[in-house]
Amino acid sequence: MNTKELTKRRKTLMRMVGHKGIAIVPSANPVPRNRDVDHVFRQDSDFLYLTGFEEPNALALLIPDKEGDRYILFCRERNADQEIWNGCRAGLEGAEKNYLADKAYAINQLDEILPRLLSDRERIFYPMGRDASFDHKVISWVNQSRGSYRDAKHILHELLSLDYLLHDMRLYKSRSEVSLMRKAAKVSIAAHVRAMQACEPGKHEYEIEAELLYEFKKAGCVPAYPSIVGGGGNTCILHYTENSQVLNDGDLLLIDAGAECQGYASDITRTFPVNGTFSNIQREVYELVLEAQTAAIRKVKPGNHWNDPHHEAVKVLTKGLVGLGLLKGKPAKLIKDEKYRQFYMHRTGHWLGLDVHDVGDYRFDEEWRLLEPGMTLTVEPGLYITRTKGVPKYFWNIGIRIEDDVLVTKDGNQVLTEKLTRDPDEIEALMAGSVH
Ligand code: GLY
Ligand code: MN
Ligand code: MN
Repeated sequence: MNTKELTKRRKTLMRMVGHKGIAIVPSANPVPRNRDVDHVFRQDSDFLYLTGFEEPNALALLIPDKEGDRYILFCRERNADQEIWNGCRAGLEGAEKNYLADKAYAINQLDEILPRLLSDRERIFYPMGRDASFDHKVISWVNQSRGSYRDAKHILHELLSLDYLLHDMRLYKSRSEVSLMRKAAKVSIAAHVRAMQACEPGKHEYEIEAELLYEFKKAGCVPAYPSIVGGGGNTCILHYTENSQVLNDGDLLLIDAGAECQGYASDITRTFPVNGTFSNIQREVYELVLEAQTAAIRKVKPGNHWNDPHHEAVKVLTKGLVGLGLLKGKPAKLIKDEKYRQFYMHRTGHWLGLDVHDVGDYRFDEEWRLLEPGMTLTVEPGLYITRTKGVPKYFWNIGIRIEDDVLVTKDGNQVLTEKLTRDPDEIEALMAGSVH
């Protein structure tokens, strides 16, 4: 845990919140999966970013003040009986000693203590609108703070969304964040190589998924999102996660999978032939998507705006679709009429960080946001050709996406996932080596 950096983040946020303000940041809570079983716990990304605290049932307060800023952490008290069942807790002492809270309180005292702390605060920043029950709690704390403390009742409590401040901070990655993203990328690369080498006709999609999970877990990581492992027609289902079908000779396999390392995601897609050799038509479409991705990545640099890589990918793909006979007409007009969307219906990327679709605005007012050093994003063009009347049969079930993770640097960009080849010849060579 990088306590220095965590302290710096809290200071930066407190400066933005300003005197008379307060930021309320709740942890994630356990989510039931089925009787007596919870989903695997994942800490809330905002909370993790500011506290490094991995336990559920906690809440952080950041209270900037002329007299001295305060960081208060509410968390579970230590409890020998509970810890036998569910593992160690930091407790109040740990929260102060290891997580550098100025003061820690038991989470079950929250309703009693928090209203008092709000009584002299004019602006209350919190994750507004994310969880209706939390919205209600905040309002109820504010009401209590007015009701029971007479001299505070004329304070105009402004409720404000914390996202606006915090998510802009999260968009710019520090060196230590980038290094965790590199580690996540490295683990994901090993997983994709293993999957390619394990793939053969007759195996099920879930057997290939198991190879990915093996590499993630072996490195102490978890999947950043449910892995997409789709063969044949399933390559054309954008969010396919059943991963239940047999892989057939002659089909393609699309894998979209990434590891999460200490909270930081990677997000990689590769598409390759189940039998290890691209057919001519598969290769032709693959090379078009690769050309679009290469062109889009070239547009990732400071000064260009968010939509430049997408626009570039659309230009290359549309021209290529005309070349393949899948679209007819002038590319400029086809782009204007969005005809490419029959085969390319998603955008070319998203911010990447603690969340796989990370926070941060893509536009300011009506303008696309400019790319700046430290931002990280995916570049992931694709083409998806389903069984459709009027489309020659030899194109059917060709779904191809190529996705990499890109850091904007001072001079341009760096592809964090560069070491996983995208070249079709190299993919065939890699598949010819075996993993076991
Ligand atoms: N894996 C989700 C995405 O590519 O956006
Ligand atoms: Mn993605
Ligand atoms: Mn992806």
